[in-house]
Amino acid sequence: MQSSYGVYEVFTPTTQAQVNFVPRKAIDDQLVDALRTPGKQLIVYGESGSGKSTLLLNMLWQTYPAHITTRCSTATTYESLLLDAFDQLDPYYLQGTTTQKSRNISPALTAGFLNFKASLAAGLSEGSSQAETRVLPPQLTAQRLAEFLGFQGMCWVIEDFHKMLPSEKVPFSQSLKIFCDVSANYPDVKTISIGATETARQVVEYDPEMRNRVSKLLVPLMTHDELSEIIINGQDLLNIDMTRLINLLFAIQRVFQVCATNLLSTHVLRRHRRHSEEGA
Ligand SMILES: Nc1ncnc2c1ncn2[C@@H]1O[C@H](COP(=O)(O)OP(=O)(O)OP(=O)(O)O)[C@@H](O)[C@H]1O
Ligand SMILES: [Mg+2]
Repeated sequence: MQSSYGVYEVFTPTTQAQVNFVPRKAIDDQLVDALRTPGKQLIVYGESGSGKSTLLLNMLWQTYPAHITTRCSTATTYESLLLDAFDQLDPYYLQGTTTQKSRNISPALTAGFLNFKASLAAGLSEGSSQAETRVLPPQLTAQRLAEFLGFQGMCWVIEDFHKMLPSEKVPFSQSLKIFCDVSANYPDVKTISIGATETARQVVEYDPEMRNRVSKLLVPLMTHDELSEIIINGQDLLNIDMTRLINLLFAIQRVFQVCATNLLSTHVLRRHRRHSEEGA
């Protein structure tokens, strides 16, 4: 029988896995716990390719009706970070899209959002490009953003936060406290900062007083078994048999292992012999 999935939906070397997502129970549970704890700000870290974005995407579907994602680079400033988040909220406040959580749009919040948009438009000088001249209006604060997100029951994912310059990270780290405080009124609001680093502090250098309000989650590289599961599930999803290919790959791997072990032993033996000869 022909599979209903395409091969690129099942094997996703360059995108986040969805159809063929392999659960990693211990990490999945820790992440879901942190996502469900009101006020907890999250830092997800680990080597590039360890599965941070994939894990988050799949767990957010279980826990949040909607979320926004901002991607950082070395050029991202604190202001542009906030502006990007506000831009992504447009559909929820300007076009009346609602998440299941918000039910009715609050007139006061919508008016606040429209006001902010108007001052943003007024701040643009004529004839100049939008990217150059967008300036953060004073009323656009982390507090306002947290409220706009919180009202919709949404969270804010910040990808590659480690790439931002340290000076630009500082105001964001300080705003984590604001997100915590706003969660008293809006329990779902949350920031999730992701970075390909070895420690959580290399992603966000949060204040020591925030220690109990920040959850740090290390995503390690996938194990051999988890990687095998991607291939095994993939064959089922595509309705194909890759047993011969898998056996071949394992055989090649074993040959390499044996060769490497032999080379190492030869090297160690030679050094040992040389030492003995020099000592004699
Ligand atoms: N649980 C999983 N099940 C199946 N495939 C996965 C899983 N986790 C990760 N992958 C696959 O591994 C690759 C790397 O995953 P991902 O992009 O999520 O890593 P990352 O940690 O976010 O990397 P980076 O730091 O470079 O952004 C992707 O091709 C993805 O499809
Ligand atoms: Mg990623």
